[in-house]
Amino acid sequence: MRAAIFDEHGGVDKIHIGEFPDPECGPDDVVIRVNAVSLNGFDPMILCGTTGLPTPFPMIPGGDYAGEIVELGANVANAANGWELGDRVCPHPFVPGEGMTGETRLGAAAQFARIPAVHLIRTPDAVSDDDAAALPIAYGTAYRMMVTRGKVGAADTVLILGATGGVGTCCLQLAKAVGATVIVTGSAQWKLDKLMELGADHVIDTSREELVKACHAIAGKPRMGLTGDTGGGVDVIINYIGGETWAQSLRCLKPDGRMLTCGATAGYAPPTDIRYIWTYEQNIIGSNGWTAEEQVAVLDMVATKALTPVIHAIRPLDQIAPSIQELIDRAIVGKTIIRPNE
Ligand SMILES: NC(=O)c1ccc[n+]([C@@H]2O[C@H](COP(=O)([O-])OP(=O)(O)OC[C@H]3O[C@@H](n4cnc5c(N)ncnc54)[C@H](OP(=O)(O)O)[C@@H]3O)[C@@H](O)[C@H]2O)c1
Repeated sequence: MRAAIFDEHGGVDKIHIGEFPDPECGPDDVVIRVNAVSLNGFDPMILCGTTGLPTPFPMIPGGDYAGEIVELGANVANAANGWELGDRVCPHPFVPGEGMTGETRLGAAAQFARIPAVHLIRTPDAVSDDDAAALPIAYGTAYRMMVTRGKVGAADTVLILGATGGVGTCCLQLAKAVGATVIVTGSAQWKLDKLMELGADHVIDTSREELVKACHAIAGKPRMGLTGDTGGGVDVIINYIGGETWAQSLRCLKPDGRMLTCGATAGYAPPTDIRYIWTYEQNIIGSNGWTAEEQVAVLDMVATKALTPVIHAIRPLDQIAPSIQELIDRAIVGKTIIRPNE
């Protein structure tokens, strides 16, 4: 089959399009013809080797995908599970024992991909393969963080850092869907303009504004709760950036506020300032991955037009290297979709 392949860590010049052995369908597996695969923030990290996760070389990038079943393993074909050849699916890409697709198991930027049938999720008729492929990792994670873990509601003012990415654009839409007030950060005005179109109430341009000062100007400076002199600050911060933004964010959160994290794009061991956590009785809440039920919930929201995936571009397989370079250059808003069979 035709696939995007890299044999060692490095820049996008390590990726080539070439022939790769077809996936072998085990008895409990299916093979899927990949019609669309989406890129995520972790694709450059896996390519560059910055996560510390073991990479099985030769490696194919791409974690999220949608397509149709073209082969059923013997046990799948014989089971009363309802799966048939030609069914449209959008798998949950995390496989216990193998890891995340595109991270520690082969990715899906290829004509075909193999996955155990227990990870299959049906793509609703009303959802295109391009939209379905955009959802699992970014939108599933955002849904769990905002809804299940964060319980973001209409009364909340939410600050979303790096809101221009796949997770961030979904967090923005989910926050607006419940009526929250949303402040977003992004590193260029053209990106912030797009976030305003998606409903952002306030924007902070991190290329020219200082985060803490700008957030205080919008939401006020937090004041200590136990003195009775409360007020100021945001209720919720979505911070998967880490790095120097971590300690800065603590200075923007109101007393008893929630800071939610699912990642650390700019560094996972940043300097912090614990005084803010006790003084303002802050809540730091982690969120990791998403369940099959949460992925179905997101697919249903897209099917009913309650949520629209933000698609930056749809491209053929041979455009995957420049598309990953765009992620490295922070030159996109939303998700890039690659169609490996075009
Ligand atoms: N735990 C989980 O299950 C899980 C699942 C999915 C994702 N994640 C994590 O969630 C985070 C977001 O993922 P993603 O795919 O949406 O996007 P991402 O590529 O990590 O980027 C999100 C945004 O962060 C900003 N950014 C990128 N590099 C940066 C840097 N070095 N310093 C500061 N800001 C930077 C960019 O916005 P601007 O340039 O506009 O600032 C970008 O649009 C990642 O850390 C990812 O690993 C975790």
